[in-house]
Amino acid sequence: MSYEIATIPGDGIGPEVVDATLPLFERVADSHGIDVEFTRYGWGSERYLEEGAMMPDDGLDRIEDSDAILLGAVGHPDVPDHVTLHGLLLPIRKRFNQQVCKRPSILFEGVESPLRGYEGGDVEFVVYRENTEGEYADVGGREHVGFDHEVAVQSAVFTRQGTEAILRAAFEAAQEREGHLTSITKSNAQAYSMVFWDDVVEEMHQDYPDVEVESLLVDAASMDFIRRPEEFDVVVASNLFGDILTDIGAIVTGSMGLAPSGNVNRSGEYPSMFEPVHGSAPDIAGQGVANPTATVLSGAMLFEEIGEDGASETLWNAVRDVLADESAPTPPDLGGSASTDEMIEALGERV
Ligand code: NAD
Ligand code: IPM
Ligand code: MN
Repeated sequence: MSYEIATIPGDGIGPEVVDATLPLFERVADSHGIDVEFTRYGWGSERYLEEGAMMPDDGLDRIEDSDAILLGAVGHPDVPDHVTLHGLLLPIRKRFNQQVCKRPSILFEGVESPLRGYEGGDVEFVVYRENTEGEYADVGGREHVGFDHEVAVQSAVFTRQGTEAILRAAFEAAQEREGHLTSITKSNAQAYSMVFWDDVVEEMHQDYPDVEVESLLVDAASMDFIRRPEEFDVVVASNLFGDILTDIGAIVTGSMGLAPSGNVNRSGEYPSMFEPVHGSAPDIAGQGVANPTATVLSGAMLFEEIGEDGASETLWNAVRDVLADESAPTPPDLGGSASTDEMIEALGERV
């Protein structure tokens, strides 16, 4: 099979981890007899600073026919975040109807959790994050800017279709995994959207009677991600809650540098996008020390999504091997001093 992957390295450590990782993906593809072309798009904040836009007007049309999208990270210290993110990342998720965001949190053998008493294998859950609406709906406005009576409104939008889509994906995942689903809301304070969410969970549960459903408020869930992360299997949450919880999930399982994600278009009508959970990390950008593992695993998720399970497995196994091997290089975020390239080299030896 042959595939075309639209590749958007983006900003900061985005291009560092993507450029380092592409040769590894090409090698894995070759070894599995897959013909993959990564088409690079130099979109991002540098382009914004030079040309006034993160991507060309027809940017999304250009990548619409690709088989999948690989993205590094977006965000630049010299450009406001809402400009860069609303100019590139968020429009891709929305326009390509990537309603389901899958974010696994796995404590790998050989990785130290900041939580006392946890070892590799103890934590393995996946967060299903609603990805195109909720608190991220572009609905609202500001008026009387600069005056005492200035007003800002940011509305959260929960549609039945969107809520059912993310819940169905999460219920299905729970059925395939350990049969346990945790739904996260804030229904005690947000009596419309979140109570609606709870109602849809209850309705949909009828279709998946074998799945055990637990409901948690997001504040308590944040605590439990730290107190008892081993008890989660599939977690489902709205856009904003899912965003916050997946940074907690990443750090309790070792590092932002290990956490992959997939923004999935379930109908197949548009491409899905794969990217690390982390951002452009301006604090370490340019030093060549970003951990590329989150990008490697995002690639593993990408290969699985396009139906190339063998290539996906090879990448997952290479990561597991390197992390478990005490003599293999360890990057600074995991307590060592290995560079991005040294990590890729070690992974390359195992594919
Ligand atoms: P961040 O994820 O970029 O960084 C948080 C911390 O994790 C930093 O200390 C960073 O050094 C560390 N870290 C992140 N990735 C790492 C890696 N691969 N290896 C080692 N350490 C790593 O979050 P932030 O600092 O809040 O955001 C920076 C910029 O990125 C902002 O502009 C933000 O809007 C943007 N952002 C973009 C995305 C995305 O493109 N998907 C995601 C999150 C944040
Ligand atoms: C993420 C990021 C984005 C999000 C930002 C950069 C808009 O934090 O992918 O987790 O909130 O979705
Ligand atoms: Mn985030």
